Amino acid sequence: MSENTKNKRKLIVTSALPYANSSLHLGHILEAVQTDIWVRFQNQNLNECLYFCADDTHGTPVMLKAQELGLTPEELIKNVKKDHVETYEKYGINFTNFHSTHSDENKKIAQEIYTSAKENGLITKKVINQLYDTKECMFLSDRFIKGMCPKCSAEDQYGDGCGVCNAAFSVEELIDPISTLSNTKPILKESEHIFFDLPSKKESIKKFLSEATLQEPIINKLHEWVDDGLKEWDISRDAPYFGFQIPDEPNKFFYVWLDAPIGYIASAMNWSVENNIDISNLWHKNSEYEIHHFIGKDISYFHGLFWPALLESSKYKLPDGIYVHGFLTLNGEKMSKSKGTGIMASEFADICDPETLRYYFASKLNNKVEDLDLNLDDYVQKINSDLVGKYLNIASRSSSFISKNNNKVLTSLDSELLRDITANRDNIIELYETRQYSKAVRLIMEMADEINKYINENTPWKKDTKDAAGIASVALNGFYYLSIYLKPILPSITKSAFKFLNNPPSNFECVGKELVHEINKYNPILNRLEKIELKKEEKMEDLNSINIEQFVDIDLRVAKIIKASHVEGADKLLKLELSVGDLGKRQVFAGIKSAYEPQDLDERLVILVSNLKPRQMKFGLSEGMVLASSDKKGGVYLVSPDEGAVEGQRVK
Ligand code: MSP
Ligand code: ZN
Repeated sequence: MSENTKNKRKLIVTSALPYANSSLHLGHILEAVQTDIWVRFQNQNLNECLYFCADDTHGTPVMLKAQELGLTPEELIKNVKKDHVETYEKYGINFTNFHSTHSDENKKIAQEIYTSAKENGLITKKVINQLYDTKECMFLSDRFIKGMCPKCSAEDQYGDGCGVCNAAFSVEELIDPISTLSNTKPILKESEHIFFDLPSKKESIKKFLSEATLQEPIINKLHEWVDDGLKEWDISRDAPYFGFQIPDEPNKFFYVWLDAPIGYIASAMNWSVENNIDISNLWHKNSEYEIHHFIGKDISYFHGLFWPALLESSKYKLPDGIYVHGFLTLNGEKMSKSKGTGIMASEFADICDPETLRYYFASKLNNKVEDLDLNLDDYVQKINSDLVGKYLNIASRSSSFISKNNNKVLTSLDSELLRDITANRDNIIELYETRQYSKAVRLIMEMADEINKYINENTPWKKDTKDAAGIASVALNGFYYLSIYLKPILPSITKSAFKFLNNPPSNFECVGKELVHEINKYNPILNRLEKIELKKEEKMEDLNSINIEQFVDIDLRVAKIIKASHVEGADKLLKLELSVGDLGKRQVFAGIKSAYEPQDLDERLVILVSNLKPRQMKFGLSEGMVLASSDKKGGVYLVSPDEGAVEGQRVK
């Protein structure tokens, strides 16, 4: 393929939108790395490839997490987005745009797609019975209900299935259900819900499955679901819910999974407006862009059935490809925070060069739906042996012979070794295109072995300056081509390599072309990794210590006592009315009566734990806790900030 004859493809690529209720873990990074390598490869192969993603911000978990932290959902998702963007950046994830589902664009497109579905007769309404928490005044989704398994009687099982005997059941079958939000017994309550007529889309879904690029086991699974009988899809949720209101349906909100994938389009639209491109050129039915989604196996159902069905009656294009990856395990175990195996991606980036993790993932990723294990010993071993010992070793051992030759590389294209490396180009391109990164990595390391063997056999250290420089020049041209092959996986390491070679970053067309004559001094690009020991968070809990996340979760604020008063019938408590700056006013019952007279407390500044779950006491609601120390003799001492502190300030 040459630059001028190649037919330039246009592609839009996405990774699944991470939920905005917590930081990214290494599983998220696995997905982003798989996608990012593909995007960088496409651009390096002279196609035009855009990469869109966003935070998935709606739904009950985000709403509750915000409540727990004493934030509004908008504040929470703003903080989380900043955190997500910074973490992705550490791993070199090169989004064209990273947006949010809580955006004007997403609202507009969600309403538009819903309205076309409605106009096509695909929207119906039905009254359903759902479990309702009378204390929290909200309907409960399955994950907020626990009870006894109807099949094996295991206690403490979630509403949608049993983790002990693996039985699937519906939440009404659960014995003695309890709301995990308030620990009360939920009641069944009627509510009208809005449904999308998925069954009537059966034929379109089958057509989609026959046309799009999907992995074999995924197609089979999706066909199985279709043939088992599709059900109407419940797309509405009742207030309180953090999401978009459904047009003309007061107090009804779009279920998070309706507007989540629409967030892909919204991210593209947000970018296209800023770049003066019409979204119709990108995503409408007749767009020249191919659309490819990268997702994890747990969300195939949404992307393979609901998403195409929803898009079909809209003006937007259906995906051309959906690529499903398996789950990441850490040292062979499912990632779990309590076992200390749920390491957060931003922490891991501080322990080791995140780019080396890209390499490790690439060396294990293929086009199958298999799970992938991050074994920390294997990881250290692989980086040291492949990147330091094989690939970069070529540069470090060759460079001295070139510096002795006034930094000049010699003409060296008449080399069988370089011809062999060049001949692998189409093979490498094909392996990237088909997402068989592990095979590409293996082939590249085989070539690195060949170059090192060539140096060993030609013993430049025994030769005169010119001959030694000739041998090193062949090796360095080979190093140049390998750097081009590795560039989608290692953008920053290869950038240093190109700088050393005094050749600008290059596309695949440069494989086989000769290096410019003068190169730079070699500075080590990557150090050997040391053994990695993860600290177990569980152990730390045993020692009665908390980690920094747990500490940060406690929202301490300066508060001013506006009014303190006695509480009738309470012998230890005073009632405090507090002003907490932007958090507004709070009422707290504090056990300080033995030490303070109410009138002495007016205007006094105290420290409030502001995100403690409000507690209903027999005298009223207590919305937090003020800090005080006490001694064995019953003395109580309120904690106050120094003069100058202002109510509402965060205490850290
Ligand atoms: N918000 C939804 C996706 C909406 S897409 C329109 C969601 N979010 S998630 O944060 O739970 O997951 C985001 C992606 O990370 C999903 O593709 C999911 O499969 C993937 N992974 C979550 N845990 C993972 C591992 N342990 N390993 C690999 N991928 C994992 O689902
Ligand atoms: Zn069971």
